[in-house]
Amino acid sequence: MQKTFDNKYELARYFGEILLKASQQKPELYIALSGGSTPKAIFEVLAKEYARSIDWTKIRFFWGDERCVAPNDPESNFGMTREYLFDHVKTRGVNIFRVQGELEPNNALTNYISQIDENVPKLNGLPHFDIMLLGMGDDGHTASIFPHQIELWNSDAICELAQHPDSGQNRVTLSGNVINNSQQIFFLVTGSNKAEKVDEIINRKGNYKQYPAALVDAGKTVWLMDKDAANRLTQQ
Ligand code: 6PG
Repeated sequence: MQKTFDNKYELARYFGEILLKASQQKPELYIALSGGSTPKAIFEVLAKEYARSIDWTKIRFFWGDERCVAPNDPESNFGMTREYLFDHVKTRGVNIFRVQGELEPNNALTNYISQIDENVPKLNGLPHFDIMLLGMGDDGHTASIFPHQIELWNSDAICELAQHPDSGQNRVTLSGNVINNSQQIFFLVTGSNKAEKVDEIINRKGNYKQYPAALVDAGKTVWLMDKDAANRLTQQ
């Protein structure tokens, strides 16, 4: 399923309502956040317009992936979330489970696997997130599973260590089996640079299965896009 919005702020409000409703339906909510730049606008709206209506203390925050950097590094997905969201809403500190990117990468990986294994409820023997937020790179990657390491998608491990194809930066990422074990999955995709891959994946064009984003369970996934990212879809 897909929904297109005039801009990322309207998209953010739509997601805010989803998060509000989900947080009212359960005593605690398990969410895995996406990183990169797209979530910034979403988190800004959530911080400004949902600070009071959502009980943020009920939400247990994880990340779908994290760069192996310290939390105050500009590259840190946790650091970005803290700046745009956590500094503006009343969360419960113990409910924030970040990747300890300051550790040696393999230690960061095993530490995060333990945090998830010990704190996220299981379904089918795998961690089961209520909400999985994903972004998509213009190369079709999602979380930190890139096309050149697409085999990581089918790992039996909860998380894997990946490397960015250009910078070689170490990343900790959820594996595809955990991503697809979520209750609801939302792709948050904005910008015209994503339009080609969005069209290829949603319309199953060409060799679309070479993109990790195409391996996300379409039956559980809602694509939330702005007009630019959905531009090619509307040209059908
Ligand atoms: C990350 C993300 C990654 C991101 C896409 C899109 O750590 O970078 O989790 O999967 O969602 O690369 O990034 P932008 O939102 O910056 O386009």
